[in-house]
Amino acid sequence: MPFFDPVESTFYGHCVERLLTSTELAPLLADGIVEIGPGTARPVVEALRRSGSRVPITGYELDADAAQIASRAAARAALPNYTVIEGDFFTATATATATGDPGTRRGGPRKAADAPSAGSAGGPVGAERGAPARRARCAIGNPPYLPAIVRPVGASHLWGGHDGAHVARRVLSQGMDVVLLMIASISDPVGLVQHARAAGYRVADWSVRPISFGRYCRQPWVSRRIGELARSGRAFFGPEGYLLAGVTWVHAGGPADAGNDCDHAGAVLRRVLTSAGSATHVGESASVGEIAGAGEIVGPDRQRIRIVSGQGELRGRSASDLSGSGR
Ligand SMILES: C[S@@+](CC[C@H](N)C(=O)[O-])C[C@H]1O[C@@H](n2cnc3c(N)ncnc32)[C@H](O)[C@@H]1O
Repeated sequence: MPFFDPVESTFYGHCVERLLTSTELAPLLADGIVEIGPGTARPVVEALRRSGSRVPITGYELDADAAQIASRAAARAALPNYTVIEGDFFTATATATATGDPGTRRGGPRKAADAPSAGSAGGPVGAERGAPARRARCAIGNPPYLPAIVRPVGASHLWGGHDGAHVARRVLSQGMDVVLLMIASISDPVGLVQHARAAGYRVADWSVRPISFGRYCRQPWVSRRIGELARSGRAFFGPEGYLLAGVTWVHAGGPADAGNDCDHAGAVLRRVLTSAGSATHVGESASVGEIAGAGEIVGPDRQRIRIVSGQGELRGRSASDLSGSGR
C-alpha cells in the first residue's frame, strides 16, 4: 500500500498549498514543479483543489503499486495540471536537465499503465498540447526520512539512509531554484539545514508541527538508530514524538557559508527543531522541550503551539523573521 498518514500527509498538503499561493514565489513556479514520491497523490490533489493553482506538477513515484494508485487518483481528480509517472525522481530530473524535458524522452521513466496521456489529464511539465516542455525549477516532496543503518525490510520506500536525511540532501543538491521538503527533527535536521545553506539556499518559509511516533519509528532498527543520532546531537524528540517541518528554500544564487547568519529564518527553524526534546531513546519519558500531543508543542516559554510558521526575506522584500500562524 502507498504511504498515507492522515496527519503527516495532510500537513504536507498544507505546506504545498502554502507554496502554491505564495505571490513572491509564483514567478519561480511558472515553469512547473516536480515532485518526489506522490504516494497516494492525495496531498497534492487536495493542495491544487484548495489553491486553484494552475501550475503544472509532475510527480515521480518509485513504487509501482503506489504509482498506479496515484495516477488513477490524479486522473479521477480531473486536474489538468497534475500527472503522476512511475519512476525514479533523480533519473527523471537528470534526464530533464539533459533534454529540457522532465523525463519522458530518451528512456526516461514510463507513465503508470493507466496514466492519462499528455494533453488529456496532464502531460510533461509545461507541455500543453505541442508546446515545447520547459524544465521545472521547483521540487517538492515528503521524502523518506526514517534513519537506519540497513535498508529496512517492509519499509524500504521510507528509508532515508543512515541519518534519515540522505534523500532530502540529494534533492537539495539538484540545483533547483525552489525546494519544498518535509524534514524531521529525528533525521539530522541541523545537518540538513546546513547542507542546504552550503548549497546556496536560504529558507524562505517554514511550518512545523508535532508528529507522534508510529509503528515504523518504533521498529527496533529505526528506534535504535534514532537513539544513536540523539546521543550524537543529530536527533531531537520527546516522549511522544518529534517535529516535522515543511521547509521552502530558495536558491540564493551561489554557494554560501554555512556559518553565515544571513539566513535568519533558517536559524530560527534550527532552534525550533532542536527544541523538540532531548530524549535519547524512543519512548523515554524525560525531556526538556516537549511535544504535548493533540497537535501541540510546548515552546521554551511554556506556551502551547499548534503549527508554527516563519518566513525569511525573499528577493529583497522584507518579511517578518517569525510570523506565527495558527497558534
Ligand atoms: C513518505 S512517503 C510520502 C508519500 C506522500 N507524498 C505523502 O506525503 O503522503 C515517500 C514516497 O516517496 C517514494 N520515493 C522514495 N524515493 C523515491 C525516488 N527516488 N523517486 C520517486 N519516488 C520515491 C516512496 O515510494 C514513497 O511513496
